[in-house]
Amino acid sequence: MSGKFPAVILAVCCLISACSSGKANTLAASAESAVVNSGALATITQNYAASKFVAERITEDELNPVLQAGVRSPSARNRQPWHFTVVRGDAELAGGIIPNITAGNVIIVISGEGADTDKSVVLDCALATQNIYLAAQALGLGSRIYTGPIDTVNAKYRESLGLPGGYSAVALVRIGRIEPVDALSAASSRKNPDGMISGR
Ligand SMILES: Cc1cc2nc3c(=O)[nH]c(=O)nc-3n(C[C@H](O)[C@H](O)[C@H](O)COP(=O)(O)O)c2cc1C
Repeated sequence: MSGKFPAVILAVCCLISACSSGKANTLAASAESAVVNSGALATITQNYAASKFVAERITEDELNPVLQAGVRSPSARNRQPWHFTVVRGDAELAGGIIPNITAGNVIIVISGEGADTDKSVVLDCALATQNIYLAAQALGLGSRIYTGPIDTVNAKYRESLGLPGGYSAVALVRIGRIEPVDALSAASSRKNPDGMISGR
């Protein structure tokens, strides 16, 4: 206790000194980055689309919370107009949807009731897609959203996927195990936020 007391005083003095010498913004910035680098927010702020997957199989214990994240997604008027279809990477169907897929991967097909015509359903399914994408990354898995194969899925695979009547696929999330990587250097660059954000 006696050892800690001077350290607290020193910290307070440094804080006062930093603020009075115009370093308040620097402190605020580092406080902000400490927040974005911690916990759930770190998964969101450091997400990236995985591309190098390894063959090891995704377990049911990993898959369950990821699907739960989809089920818990918000939707307009709480309609929950989605359906989630799990396709294992070693199923023949998986290779038709994503060529060269890794056997241990899982594809989750997010389909929506009336998604062909209802923009609100597409938005709800997009939110569920994002929840699934981020939940997988929160578990330390790699994930990637795909819409490129959607036309093929809807034209060729509705029946083999067992999509409910009136539902159309909106997006896929590929989930797999990855070698540990530095998320920020693995991600592509983003545009300068100055051009995206206004009013503050
Ligand atoms: C709506 C949507 C559709 C996408 N479709 C594809 C796709 O068909 N094929 C693919 O390889 N990546 C696809 N991606 C992944 C993007 O290319 C990736 O998220 C983007 O380049 C950012 O990558 P990063 O997060 O690693 O920086 C899609 C992403 C989104 C959000």
